[in-house]
Amino acid sequence: MNVRKQTDGPARSLMRSVGRVMAPFNSLGVIRRINGTERLETLVWEYSHPLWPEASDGFSALFVSDIHYGKLLSRGQFDRMTEAMAALESDCVLLGGDFGEDPEDSPNCIGILAPILRDRRVIAVPGNHDIRGGIYRETLETAVKNAGWEMPVNCCVPLTDGAVLAGLDDFREGDPDPEAVRREVQGTPFVLLLCHNPDALADIASPFYHLALCGHTHGGQVTLFGRPIFSSSRYGGRYLTGWKRENGADILISNGIGTSLLPVRLGATPQMIKIVFRRGPEGRKLLESALSGCGGRKQKSGGKTHDRRRG
Ligand SMILES: [Fe+2]
Repeated sequence: MNVRKQTDGPARSLMRSVGRVMAPFNSLGVIRRINGTERLETLVWEYSHPLWPEASDGFSALFVSDIHYGKLLSRGQFDRMTEAMAALESDCVLLGGDFGEDPEDSPNCIGILAPILRDRRVIAVPGNHDIRGGIYRETLETAVKNAGWEMPVNCCVPLTDGAVLAGLDDFREGDPDPEAVRREVQGTPFVLLLCHNPDALADIASPFYHLALCGHTHGGQVTLFGRPIFSSSRYGGRYLTGWKRENGADILISNGIGTSLLPVRLGATPQMIKIVFRRGPEGRKLLESALSGCGGRKQKSGGKTHDRRRG
């Protein structure tokens, strides 16, 4: 697969510098109300599939991505995230990469999260910010190992009886090998894929997975009228946010927690998503949604059902 390496050009370097100057002002009242960085939306989805193992009906996964720990992430937002992690109990925690804004920040983020998540099974994949240039991969692997977490890269680990969790390497800075994963998961009833950048899925014409969990796009991070001003995806808005179905498989893309380059979010609220797996006809239902942080208020969904058979 063709992998594009990310390099910091003059424009990105300038944005990084501007972002670091802006970050301390994010806590000011007026900016907090306009900027969406100090909010967190938690969503609980029930996901039903006929191939999900019956013995594991009700198994749950908490999906957290794109923390971007570092100078752009406020202490308040980090605390909001860890409080939500604790509140949303689950059978496993799946971390979708981009732990740090800079690769040097990623091991620090993992080191802080490790004791917070010590009683939970944690499975992670790398994001482009974690292994930028490829030279930080070993540092990341060491941090993950020291945390007691698992990191399947182009391979899979058992998730529950009859289901595996497959992990792909990052699309921009790594070397994703979906065919290696396909060979490994042959004969497995249900495959859940954890993959930082959904662009890696576009060339998989015949998916080996049933549901893929992705991040990277940050919901556009700064959007106007639902369109991103700048897209980190080579496919523009195709993988912007939320649920998609491509080639017979489902994809769920999270807005993530933090920001990249600039500490600004507009129309792309930070998200944490819990998925409750059910065996049954293909469909999904939003069980609960809540918003915390600036302007946040607890709210519960009425259990809206999204049944693909009805289009
Ligand atoms: Fe990211």
